[in-house]
Amino acid sequence: MQTRDPTGWMRTEYETLVAQSLDWRPRVLQGPSAPRSTVDGKEVVMLASNNYLNLSTHPKVKRAAREAVKTHGAGSGSVRPIAGNLDLHLELERRIARFKRREAALYFMSGFAGNAGLIPQLAGEGDALFTDELNHGSIIDGVRLTKAQRFIYKHKDVADLERVLREADPMFKKLLIISDGVFSMDGDVAPVDQIAKLAEEFGAMLYIDDAHGEGVLGEGGRGVASHFHVEEKVHVELGTFSKALGVVGGYVAGSNDLRNYALNKSRTWLLSGTSTPSTTASCIAAIDVLETEPRHVKKLWSNTKYFKKRLKSMGFDIGQSETPITPVMLGDSALAQQFSKRLFEEGVFAVPIVYPMVAKDRARIRNIVTAGLKRKDLDDALAAYEKIGKELRVVS
Ligand SMILES: Cc1ncc(COP(=O)(O)O)c(C=O)c1O
Repeated sequence: MQTRDPTGWMRTEYETLVAQSLDWRPRVLQGPSAPRSTVDGKEVVMLASNNYLNLSTHPKVKRAAREAVKTHGAGSGSVRPIAGNLDLHLELERRIARFKRREAALYFMSGFAGNAGLIPQLAGEGDALFTDELNHGSIIDGVRLTKAQRFIYKHKDVADLERVLREADPMFKKLLIISDGVFSMDGDVAPVDQIAKLAEEFGAMLYIDDAHGEGVLGEGGRGVASHFHVEEKVHVELGTFSKALGVVGGYVAGSNDLRNYALNKSRTWLLSGTSTPSTTASCIAAIDVLETEPRHVKKLWSNTKYFKKRLKSMGFDIGQSETPITPVMLGDSALAQQFSKRLFEEGVFAVPIVYPMVAKDRARIRNIVTAGLKRKDLDDALAAYEKIGKELRVVS
């Protein structure tokens, strides 16, 4: 008689997470993601969303979704390679390519699907892949699916990257360098110009994940490659609509060759259902807004500068951030959790980032400033920070 419990281990694993306070208990957003949102029945200043430009509630973006349901229905009926290749998808890809000033783009279900599907097709047996130690989890998963030799270089350390490139250069065929443009936990920016220089020197392919750069950095929010004026040197730009563009879906942008290759090889593109008409139409509208209403990016930066300056003047450590992602470094996980709980009680929603997302002694609250926050929203949040910072003896 079989005595094995086939699923009991899940409960044990879960209980271990709970005992270590490492389990996720997502709060509930009751309505739109907005500068003032209703979360778990309470009105809060939203400092936890990636909706940098608040486009998820922009009238044009919402209208586009409604119209597309009328004209195209709710779903596309198939994966794209078979019968789900909508005119809307192609229009969106043309718009992405034009916005990013690239030859072509390919739209994926998500940025994660782009990284997980494409990276394993860009480097294989006999090739070498170079990845920043703090790259996003979707890059890590994509890298794990390759048969290429992996070299993990120190965070943003161009000298270390050069060292491993030199070491690998004579032994491998293709070389592929992958980096986040903006690092999502610290808000710091990769030295993409220097990385691009090295890529050129070694004849390596350069892949930049711009998930947190687009809509934020560069001319009109065109992203990190535009910020460093190296668009032509970045061979693959991965982006997402789930952050500044306020919708959902990922893409890769680059040459026609890249699009043709990615379309024929990426299993997450070939074998997964496609984005709905409403989502696709909203993405097109979001690009439209970005191209025609530059005020959102400007406001994002003026809010960011104000918030950072005030936090610093109160004595908080905001780490190495150069973007609207503003960590308040607290060190200890329990303190970060306690701080976030108190912020919520005071009407501010900002999540604690703790181990294993960051090192055990690098726990922090991650604040994300958005364009739609009014001065009063920021001042209310800052007042809560000051009060709790003193209460928990983080600042004096
Ligand atoms: C750097 C980075 N890359 C990729 C992704 C995945 O993007 P998406 O939400 O479109 O799957 C994220 C989102 O968390 C991210 O921060």
